Amino acid sequence: MKLFVGKTALVTGAQRGIGFETARAFALQGASVVMTDVNGEGVKQAAEIIEKETGAKTLALASDVSKSADCERAVEETLKTFKKLDVLVNNAGITSDNLALRMKEEDFQVMLDVNLKGAFLMAKAASRSMLRARGGRIINIASVVGQMGNAGQAGYAASKAGLIGLTKSLAREFASRQILVNAVAPGFIQTRMTDALKDEAKARLLELIPLRRFGAAGDVARAVLFLAGEDSAYITGQVLAVNGGIYM
Ligand SMILES: NC(=O)c1ccc[n+]([C@@H]2O[C@H](COP(=O)([O-])OP(=O)(O)OC[C@H]3O[C@@H](n4cnc5c(N)ncnc54)[C@H](O)[C@@H]3O)[C@@H](O)[C@H]2O)c1
Repeated sequence: MKLFVGKTALVTGAQRGIGFETARAFALQGASVVMTDVNGEGVKQAAEIIEKETGAKTLALASDVSKSADCERAVEETLKTFKKLDVLVNNAGITSDNLALRMKEEDFQVMLDVNLKGAFLMAKAASRSMLRARGGRIINIASVVGQMGNAGQAGYAASKAGLIGLTKSLAREFASRQILVNAVAPGFIQTRMTDALKDEAKARLLELIPLRRFGAAGDVARAVLFLAGEDSAYITGQVLAVNGGIYM
């Protein structure tokens, strides 16, 4: 039995990587899926791939999560097309790694704008219809780095730690309307983001991961689907770590 038939899920940054795999997992479980990304052409192609594979209904939108007008429009288009929004996954994210002393102010700011403010703007836009419907799920993709810090990632870690604070605050604000807000904190997942690491850095990292492998995008997608589904109805304000044990 498919678990998300009749549900609509919106995933930001869904053109590739974890966002794509999450959108695909929802589609395989019968959901209608809205895929947004700052790369409009890329996300259109990604949605076509998922529609062909799963037969699910998809809507691809060019949308920058750091711009409030884009966030409002993404939710409006979703409601126009699918009449409801049950699940929001704030997945869009960027890194711009550098030691703090060398990190430019603009690079620090852009990480906060996309990774943290973007999730706030999307949650705000989506919450209106969820409040009316008296139910919904918001899942923020944080990072293990937001929990433990990482040299060379001060801005990224700050944005992801902030996202965890945002998650807990929204969970408290929305609980009375049955809108559950949780975060997933992935460890090192094999995607374009981690492919950029040098081999030496990858080998060093593997030694720190008790499960001795990088995660797959599907490992994260399955955690997101759990937090979006009926089996997690009594879970809110939590951070679910999907990290192979690197941080406990
Ligand atoms: N890969 C990892 O190891 C890892 C670990 C922990 C957390 N994460 C988080 O998971 C999420 C997805 O990461 P990924 O590895 O799949 O990265 P990725 O770079 O492969 O995908 C990120 C997607 O977000 C889109 N995007 C970037 N800026 C955007 C904006 N302003 N508005 C809309 N879309 C935008 C990109 O175009 C891209 O399609 C990110 O939030 C990332 O921080 C990843």
